[in-house]
Amino acid sequence: MSEIRTDLSELEPVFAEIENVPENLISALQKAQEIYGWLPKEVMYRIGEKLGVKPAKVIGVATFYSQFRLEPMGKYLVMVCGGTACHVGGSEKIAAVVSEYLGTENGKTTADGIFTLEKVACLGCCSLAPVMMINGEVYGNLTSEKAVEILRNLREKEAEK
Ligand code: FES
Repeated sequence: MSEIRTDLSELEPVFAEIENVPENLISALQKAQEIYGWLPKEVMYRIGEKLGVKPAKVIGVATFYSQFRLEPMGKYLVMVCGGTACHVGGSEKIAAVVSEYLGTENGKTTADGIFTLEKVACLGCCSLAPVMMINGEVYGNLTSEKAVEILRNLREKEAEK
């Protein structure tokens, strides 16, 4: 995925809050991710510069915690629930099939930038387990076949554009 230009001035409100305290690194990264949707390298470097934290340390922290996204999100965020109810309902197999169909892994975006796959904990609609959520829309009582059909429809819709 190609690097995109990022408007670093959007970080100013974050800097006002974190007050140049190195211990606020994680909180700064979280806030930056809320703004940009992910953590571009130049954003991480700027945060490090502001907090007096070396770039390698900033990158180290960002890569250590799975909450941080190091590449842009796809147009569709596909969240496959791995919570208990969904797990009992076969979510592991569904996640594997979805991953294979999309050709990407958990936390990654497809090469065409259309789908980001994320395995998540309980999505809060266990009565519909197993569940997948795409851009906020819930798909319940899922099977692997149903999940692939939903994704195929979205793929076709995108291909028509
Ligand atoms: S366990 Fe999947 S929605 Fe609750």
